[in-house]
Amino acid sequence: MPAPELRLVLAVSLDGRLAPADGGAAQLGGRGDRRALEEALAWADGCLIGARTLRLHGSTCLIHGQDLLAERRRQGRSDQPLALAVSRAGDLDPALPFFQQPLRRWLLRPAGLGPLPSGFERELPLQTWPQVLAALGAAGLQRLVLLGGAEVAGQLLQQRLVDALQLTLCPQLLGGGHAWLPAALRLEPNRWVLEEQRPLGGDELLLRYRRLRAPAPVPVPPL
Ligand SMILES: NC(=O)c1ccc[n+]([C@@H]2O[C@H](COP(=O)([O-])OP(=O)(O)OC[C@H]3O[C@@H](n4cnc5c(N)ncnc54)[C@H](OP(=O)(O)O)[C@@H]3O)[C@@H](O)[C@H]2O)c1
Repeated sequence: MPAPELRLVLAVSLDGRLAPADGGAAQLGGRGDRRALEEALAWADGCLIGARTLRLHGSTCLIHGQDLLAERRRQGRSDQPLALAVSRAGDLDPALPFFQQPLRRWLLRPAGLGPLPSGFERELPLQTWPQVLAALGAAGLQRLVLLGGAEVAGQLLQQRLVDALQLTLCPQLLGGGHAWLPAALRLEPNRWVLEEQRPLGGDELLLRYRRLRAPAPVPVPPL
């Protein structure tokens, strides 16, 4: 099985922030962004979510659109993509509303942390990201959405494992330091191709970019 396609989906402020200056749960997107997010979830087999995002928000986004649910059912897929929580500590509070959501949940965490916490159906050992993505591909997940946050997104982007970026530009300036990628991140040169640009209403703009694969090196003719 090939590694899954990975799409990072975020709502960002006009100044590229993911969250308000004092941190906390970002509530950036409006109705149009919500629909774009649900469409991305409807496309996905699984969605990766950083543990800090889960702790701050308490729950994850679900598909509510009846047309999107009907189409997934028609395709013989589950209503919601599999939720893949990413944690080093593996200690998500079982009282989080996340554990009451109508979802299947897997935990991605380092091996050897003890019994699987209740609420999760399965765990995958988090050694390296390429290994995790290969294991998810082998488990039959071919399309993944990454819902952030910045720490998890930064790691996957640094390792060139994100294939597409779906950003909703939201009409606010937030200031502060919570950029959608960690400030300390260092990236190799990279280039993205614009695949879609769509006004979402409410002054929001969806931008979808695909990573341009580095061309094979051109052989240098002998002098
Ligand atoms: N605007 C948006 O669309 C959007 C989307 C998502 C998030 N956000 C915002 O982003 C902020 C949260 O983002 P964040 O960057 O602080 O945190 P994050 O990326 O959501 O989560 C970081 C956590 O993920 C786990 N983790 C990271 N790398 C790991 C690895 N290699 N192996 C195992 N576990 C790993 C660790 O969990 P443990 O602590 O459990 O070890 C770490 O504390 C919040 O303010 C949230 O509102 C906004």
